[in-house]
Amino acid sequence: MFRYLTGGESHGPSLSAIIEGLPSGLSLDFDAIDLQLKRRQGGYGRGARQQIETDKVEIITGVRFGRTLGSPVTLLVRNRDFENWLDRMSVRPVDGETAPIVEARPGHADFAGMMKYDTDDLRNILERSSARNTATTVAVGAICRCLLSEFGIKVMSHVVAIGGIENRVSAPVDYREIEVKSELSPVRVADSAVEAAIIAAIDEAGGRGDTLGGVVEVAVTGCPPGLGSHVHWDRKLDSRIAGAIMGIQAIKGVEIGMGFGVAARPGSTVHDEIFHDESTGFSRSSNNAGGLEGGMTNGEPVVVRAAMKPISTLKSPLRSVNMQTLEQVTAHFERSDVCAVPAAGVICEAVVAIVIAEALIEKFGGDSITEMRRNFEGYTVAVEMKSKVSL
Ligand SMILES: Cc1cc2nc3c(=O)[nH]c(=O)nc-3n(C[C@H](O)[C@H](O)[C@H](O)COP(=O)(O)O)c2cc1C
Repeated sequence: MFRYLTGGESHGPSLSAIIEGLPSGLSLDFDAIDLQLKRRQGGYGRGARQQIETDKVEIITGVRFGRTLGSPVTLLVRNRDFENWLDRMSVRPVDGETAPIVEARPGHADFAGMMKYDTDDLRNILERSSARNTATTVAVGAICRCLLSEFGIKVMSHVVAIGGIENRVSAPVDYREIEVKSELSPVRVADSAVEAAIIAAIDEAGGRGDTLGGVVEVAVTGCPPGLGSHVHWDRKLDSRIAGAIMGIQAIKGVEIGMGFGVAARPGSTVHDEIFHDESTGFSRSSNNAGGLEGGMTNGEPVVVRAAMKPISTLKSPLRSVNMQTLEQVTAHFERSDVCAVPAAGVICEAVVAIVIAEALIEKFGGDSITEMRRNFEGYTVAVEMKSKVSL
């Protein structure tokens, strides 16, 4: 069984994660893991926090000489900003009181969290609801990517829209080309004209004290057919991917393949016809299903889109209520992003990589990477046999 948990507050000493269920003998690429953390910190429209932190992962258990041992892998990402918060975020009691934050931000976890956890200081809620902890999610995802790359599986993302400005991509899609171009873009958009319009929109929104949301697309190439299952809701890969994506802060919608677009079309223009050629095997001429049929991968790229709402901490704050005095006030403002859609794409990649790695371990599981590879190769041969005519 593969599972992981994260801990940590935004301005606490550090963030942490424990991963259990990785096979032994998996070689970890430490530079590649730190590169993913750097990608998460990037993107035009981010706040000052990203200049304070230079996230690096420390692996403190479960790895020896660069390879996993099969025991739990524990990760740490230190918060450099903690030194500025020693009193306000002290784990131990401190002398003197820190003034509580009481002006709940509409759209944040503040109001509901204060009710649920019976606190008068919304810092107790915002420290964990903050997207800072996605640094560890991305680190876990980066370790899962090391596993996926052993089996030729790659995960990429790009930004499809910000603030209503769309970056349309037409079929057939060359994900490798989009990846190369969007990696060079500060808003992770492959089209330079759209990039310029989006940057102008972020500047304009920031100037008004406002924020912007958008849409990102993740594509996974190289998945064998048959990851996930059709038999129960919680084994369906589309359900698990959607749950993981919705678990990211500020994500409010998920689409697989053509997504909501399927609802208005006849079946003849939605479903991806199946072809067969003796030399190349099975193929499709479209991928509207986004690589998933019946909750299982079908061998085509897995394509997932996520809609992110605009950031809810506004420099020109919305109206709210002082939770102590019940007076009408403006919401709390604290150093914040104007737009974090490009970073959300990197986080979406990470959670999709985690779900695919989990499904891969389920299907080809073994205690070691050698055993997993053997199971994978046996299955690949069986799949190839099915694409030959049996007389
Ligand atoms: C990469 C990323 C960065 C974010 N940065 C901020 C931020 O600077 N300020 C803020 O108020 N919310 C930010 N958010 C969103 C909040 O964490 C989120 O809206 C909040 O936890 C409430 O959860 P919900 O939007 O899922 O309901 C960010 C989200 C992501 C994914």
